[in-house]
This record gives sequence, C-alpha cells and structure tokens, in this order.
Amino acid sequence: MLQPVILCGGEGTRLWPLSRTLYPKQFIEVSEGRVLFADAVSRCMSLPKAAEPIVVCNTEHRFLVAEQLRRLGTSGRMVLEPFGRNTAPAAAVAALMEHGGDPVLLVMPADHSIAEGEAFARAVALGYERAKQGRFVCFGVVPDHPHTGYGYIRKGQAASEGVFSVDSFVEKPGREAAEEYVRSGEYLWNSGIFLFKASNYLDALAAHAPGILKSCRTAVENSYRDLDFIRLGEEEFGQCPSDSIDYAVMEKVDGIEVVPLDMAWRDLGSWKSLHDMHPSDEAGNSLLGDVVAEDTGNCYVRSSGRLVVTLGLRDTTVVETTDAVFVAANDKLDNMKSVIRRLKDAG
Ligand code: GDD
Ligand code: MG
Repeated sequence: MLQPVILCGGEGTRLWPLSRTLYPKQFIEVSEGRVLFADAVSRCMSLPKAAEPIVVCNTEHRFLVAEQLRRLGTSGRMVLEPFGRNTAPAAAVAALMEHGGDPVLLVMPADHSIAEGEAFARAVALGYERAKQGRFVCFGVVPDHPHTGYGYIRKGQAASEGVFSVDSFVEKPGREAAEEYVRSGEYLWNSGIFLFKASNYLDALAAHAPGILKSCRTAVENSYRDLDFIRLGEEEFGQCPSDSIDYAVMEKVDGIEVVPLDMAWRDLGSWKSLHDMHPSDEAGNSLLGDVVAEDTGNCYVRSSGRLVVTLGLRDTTVVETTDAVFVAANDKLDNMKSVIRRLKDAG
C-alpha cells in the first residue's frame, strides 16, 4: 500500500508578512485560488492506489488543515504536533501509526509547486517498486540554476529503469559549489520528497537517531483522539530531538536511490520564488491585488487590501498586509531570516 504523508508544520517565515507563525505559507493563497497545502493533498489523491493522506502539522494549524481537507472532500488522518521538531520526527510519528501492514510511505512537503501531475505520478510509481524492495528512495529535480536554498544529490549508477543510486547528499551548499554542481550535470536538487517502507524508516532511526525514535514512540503511545484529530503526547514529544529527515536518516543510510524529476518544480519558500513563478508583465513585474505600477521594473508588488502605487521603482519587493508592509531590495531577500530573527527578538 502507498501511504502519503504530508508534512506541513513549517512556519514559512521567509514569506513574512503574508506567512505568519499562526497562518503559514502552505495555507495562504500564493496566487489566485492556489493554496499549496491543497495542491499537495490533490496530488496525493490523484496517485493510483494511494490511501487517504496522513497530515502531520502543528496543533495551531489544525483547523486550517481540516478546512482544506473538507473542501477537497477527503478526511485523511490529522496528527498534531505540540511543537515543531523538524521533519525526521514528523515522518517517524506517521511511520508509527497503526497501518495494518507495512506500507510504503510517500513523505511530501506541503510547500511545493509541481506543474506536471502525471509525470510526477509516473516517477512515484517507479520509486514505489524500489521502496517495496526495502530501498530508501528520494526524488531529485534536474536543476536549471544554482539555487542555494536547496539540498543537492549526486547521482550515481543506474539501478533500474529511471532510478539511480545516490553517491552523496549536500545540504544547501554555498553559491560557488552550487554553480559547480549545476555545471557538472551530475547533481540534482533534493526535492524533499521521499519513499520508504515504514519499517525501514523505523529501523534506520533505531540505528542512527534512537532518541527521535524513543520520544516519537512514546508520544504515539500516549496520543489520544480529539474530534477528528490525533494529538501526540505533549510531554513525550517535547523531549524529542529536532532534526531533518535529510540529516537524521538520508545522509546516514546506505543504498539510497533517486528518481530524477525532469519537470517544473519549485519550493515556494521565498518572495523570489513567487516572483519567478507568477506571470510577469513585459517589464518583469508581478503585480497582485490592487496595484498600480508606473515606470516600474522587475518588481514583485502585492496588495492584500489597500491600493499600492509605485513610481520609478526597480528590483524591489513590496508586500502590503493589514498590519505590516514589507519593502525589500530583491538582491537582499536572502537575508530574510535575520530580519525575522530581529522581529521575533523584539517580540
Ligand atoms: N509536521 C512538520 N513538523 N512539518 C515540518 C516541520 C515540523 O517540525 N518542519 C518543516 N516541516 C515541513 C514544512 O512545512 C515543509 O513542507 C517541509 O516539511 C520541508 O521543510 P522546510 O523547512 O521547507 O525545508 P527546506 O525547504 O528548508 O529544505 C528541505 O526541502 C528542500 C526542498 O524543498 C530539504 O529537504 C532540502 O534538501 C530540499 O532541497
Ligand atoms: Mg521548503
């Protein structure tokens, strides 16, 4: 059985002020009528023979998740984390749930844009056959530029049709290394999507991250139902170390395989990625909402309500919301995290 697991506990702070801790990017409309979390659920629902998804999210977002699932006409299983502990524990609690068997888990982030649903389904089918045989499978996107916000996978020998062995992982390299990787043609972007049998993942945690396994196991044992939600034991989950699937497992286990995805794929994690995705006018602007742009070029300007007018503006991002306005030089958007830290420190 193929069991999709959607991870949507991230805060998406690089899309401040639109994406907030209480209302993160996977639940906002990134462009007209498009909500990334809903896209991720639809993608799972269209996979042949897939079970209803397990959604692992933060307690604070439970009603946002429930509302989106209701709109899509699916119930899924909603597992609530009292705190974010990164992706390795989130996948662990999904692997530890009652499944009646040992399903292949398709672990997917909720913040991606994948244009070609059918090609994606074909890639999942290829990986599924390998995961059933006990392999850890990841999906690597053929890169079209040296993005430094992604992890990279060095592709090895062909393992079976459309599937390759993985030589190594490099998590978020610097600019020079990323340029070299793209030039070499040997590397793929790590899409953050993984396939493995639940039992294989739990064995890998036992070997490489036993603290995560122990806390997640007791958190699941002490979980309880609350309406349609499964709440993890708070104290037990609170003791869980924080780590990503990439660091805790993928970089440690042997015999990992990768299915290349040669398709338009983006992690819509930053204003730049939204600017790139959204149709631009002839001057390279993306203008959303009530915006008038005069003599303006290469700008992303977004209004949530008030009229925003720009004149003689270049290479700038402007995001208006009811309680905050963000204005940034496009070439400084990589420093977003330090601004967010400052805002958090200031309370
Ligand atoms: N449930 C849960 N709990 N989900 C989480 C948590 C958590 O504590 N932390 C993150 N997530 C979810 C996010 O909502 C997102 O959907 C996904 O897990 C990945 O987390 P990100 O924080 O967005 O990771 P990243 O984008 O920096 O890096 C990963 O993804 C890249 C591709 O998008 C890595 O796997 C990179 O190597 C990869 O290139
Ligand atoms: Mg991401």
